[in-house]
Amino acid sequence: MKSLKTLFLDELADMYDAEHRIIKALPKLAKAATCKDLKAAFQSHLKETEGQVKRLEQVFQAFGQKAKGKTCEATVGLLKEGDEIAAEFKGSPTINAALIAAAQKVEHYEMASYGCLHEWAGLLGNRKAADLLQATLDEETGANRSLTVLARASSNEEALCDTDTATSKGASDNNSGNLRRGNRPAQPRRTATLRR
Ligand SMILES: [Fe+2]
Repeated sequence: MKSLKTLFLDELADMYDAEHRIIKALPKLAKAATCKDLKAAFQSHLKETEGQVKRLEQVFQAFGQKAKGKTCEATVGLLKEGDEIAAEFKGSPTINAALIAAAQKVEHYEMASYGCLHEWAGLLGNRKAADLLQATLDEETGANRSLTVLARASSNEEALCDTDTATSKGASDNNSGNLRRGNRPAQPRRTATLRR
C-alpha cells in the first residue's frame, strides 16, 4: 500500500519539475506580451518562481529527502498550449488576453497542487513544510489575482477591438473567464493595481 507520504513526495517532485519548466517559459511569455504591465508581471513572477524552487528544496529537506523532479505532464501540456496561443495571436490586439488566459491556467494548476500539498504536509505533521507550501500558495494566488486585474484593466477590452470579435457583436457575452463585461467599446486604459 502506498502511503500519503509517498503521494506527497510524488506531488512535490511533480511541482519541482513544473516550477523549472515555468522558469523557462516566463521569459517567453514576457517577450510575447505587448502590454508593459503584463511584461512586468511575468518578470516579477519569474523572480517569485525562482524562490519557489528554493522553497520546494526546503520542503524536501524537511522530509529528509533530496530534491528531485518528475515530469509534470500537465505543465508540459499547459505550456505547449501557451506557446501555440502566443504564436496564433502574435500581432493581434488579442495577444495579451490570450497570454493571460494561458498563464492563469498554469496558476490554477499550481494553486490546486500547492493547496493539496499544504494540507497533506499538515496531516503528515510537518508544520515547517506546511508553512513553506502555504507561502508559495499565497504567491500563486497573488499572481493569479494580478493577472485578473491586468485582464480587466485593459487586455480584455483591447481584445474586443480585434476586428473578428467586434464584428460578431454579442459573442463575448458567451465567453467565460474574465470577459465578463460584455461587448463594449474600448475605454481609456486604467492603471492596474497589482494587489495581493
Ligand atoms: Fe509557481
